[in-house]
Amino acid sequence: MNVTTALGAPSTPSIFAPVSTPAFAIRDLSFLVLAIVTFIFVVVAGVMLYAIVRYRRRPGEDGGDPPQVYGSTQIELAWTVVPFLIVIVLFLTTTRYIFAIERHAAPPDAVEVTVVGNQWWWEIRYPQLGIVTANELHVPVSDEARPTPTFITLESVDVIHSFWVPQLAGKMDVVPGQRNRMWVEPRTPGTYVGQCAEFCGLQHAGMLLTVTVHSPDDFVRWVAAQQAVAADVPAARAGREVFTAVACINCHTVRGTPANGVFGPDLTHLMSRATLGAGVAANTPENLRAWVNDPASLKPGALMPAMKLSNDQLDKLVAYLATLR
Ligand code: CUA
Repeated sequence: MNVTTALGAPSTPSIFAPVSTPAFAIRDLSFLVLAIVTFIFVVVAGVMLYAIVRYRRRPGEDGGDPPQVYGSTQIELAWTVVPFLIVIVLFLTTTRYIFAIERHAAPPDAVEVTVVGNQWWWEIRYPQLGIVTANELHVPVSDEARPTPTFITLESVDVIHSFWVPQLAGKMDVVPGQRNRMWVEPRTPGTYVGQCAEFCGLQHAGMLLTVTVHSPDDFVRWVAAQQAVAADVPAARAGREVFTAVACINCHTVRGTPANGVFGPDLTHLMSRATLGAGVAANTPENLRAWVNDPASLKPGALMPAMKLSNDQLDKLVAYLATLR
């Protein structure tokens, strides 16, 4: 299933449609490189075309060798020095951009997020805010007057993944045993799509990442909603009993209940997320039922086991999960 289906909206992430500070720099640099290589292409192809046409064999020619020229210091210097200078320009400009992005210090209002790559989903933690969620990163929009960029620490629990949201920033590998840092500073509210960009196993393609950029007020509301403990709806207690009685709680956390597992995504506010299984399906009760019954039916290779529940247990459990807003 593709991004368009699961999210209900088309999205074409492009580095040429940036909305965030590091991504603006990457677009500018890309245009510079494109301009230089286009110029080289036009010159080389132009000279080649000229030579092909101007010196083609004409009727009545004897077919002998053209005049032979051996060595020309001027020409050899030109085709050595000019490319060398071009490489120096590309190298220095790229280095300048890389250092400018890497050395950017976090301002006081920066939001700190830790994103953990898992086979095959993203855990998203806000250590300062006490929030844990999955696959859908929420950040505030940033403005010139009061910058609120988001600084992201990248970790992996298993293999190498890669974090890439093309409209927000460059690509950064997510390496086990290493903490990589990057930052985004979006200027326009909206939802931006990313994807794991390093082959990490069977469901590498099933590691969708969305970033929702909120206005400051909306972000405060989102934080407050996520900080709340899980809803406890009396009508769904039977389902909650199923949840705590079977193995769900070994892997999942639902804050406010005994469930405190950490191997799978935090489900405290499961229904606030748009997709299931890191983007493989829209988060609807029908899909949720299919997922709990047999995750592999939606995501072959998913590490969550089929729970082998009866239909009655499934109904109750899904009714409970649907209350976790
Ligand atoms: Cu994770 Cu590819």
